[in-house]
Amino acid sequence: IGQRIEYLEQCASTQIVAHQLAQEGAPDGTAVISELQTEGRGRLMRKWDSAKGQGIWMSIILRPELPPHKSPQFTLVAAVAIVRAIQSVTGLDASIKWPNDILFGTKKATGILTELQSDADGIQALIIGIGVNVNQEREDFDAEVQDIATSLRLESGQPVNRRKLVQEILHCLEIYTDMYIEEGFAPLKELWEGHSATIGKAVRARMSRETLEGIAEGITEDGVLQLRTADGKVHGIYSADIELK
Ligand code: BTN
Repeated sequence: IGQRIEYLEQCASTQIVAHQLAQEGAPDGTAVISELQTEGRGRLMRKWDSAKGQGIWMSIILRPELPPHKSPQFTLVAAVAIVRAIQSVTGLDASIKWPNDILFGTKKATGILTELQSDADGIQALIIGIGVNVNQEREDFDAEVQDIATSLRLESGQPVNRRKLVQEILHCLEIYTDMYIEEGFAPLKELWEGHSATIGKAVRARMSRETLEGIAEGITEDGVLQLRTADGKVHGIYSADIELK
């Protein structure tokens, strides 16, 4: 991973560039990094604040030889890799909020957006978008996210070397995606749960049709969140916004 790196001063979104490169046949492990994104995007069509030179705005093209139903777990694998990379470069212990927000306390420092590129022959590539808030000061964030966003610099009290962190993220991604491909999800599920801010906690899960409250008990082998409601039923949550209560 990261054998080929496309480095850009500016683009709309590294996701868009990565999709284009993937369509043109870019090899497995190609990374696109941009200093500035003018239309950075998050999950659920949200805007992703991507100020110049202060974060890591990166998309990685993966072409794993795995059946399609095993692709969604890559997002959880990426979260584990990033938490580990942050730990090794800064000494900070971040936690993961299901499915893949990386937090300090309740504030978000990193988001991951996994998109599929498929055609009639099936999935051609996974595009893993990673946004890490590295050196922002509080006032560098848009006013509406100042209370819910944080950066590694704000958490550690000192600037963090972005180049080192990119290298470590690419290195950890390689280790953990290889582990997933070779050993399956079980060892990663354990690592993921070890860094989780969600498991064992009372949470509120907002889904498109309903909102459920209960205890997040764990994730399945497919990365589905298991939520136990007050009536004792366990619900599998495939996609939701999770609020820690
Ligand atoms: C989220 O938490 O909603 C996911 C945020 C993902 C942001 C990254 S930054 C690099 C890549 N390019 C984008 O436009 N989005 C992802």
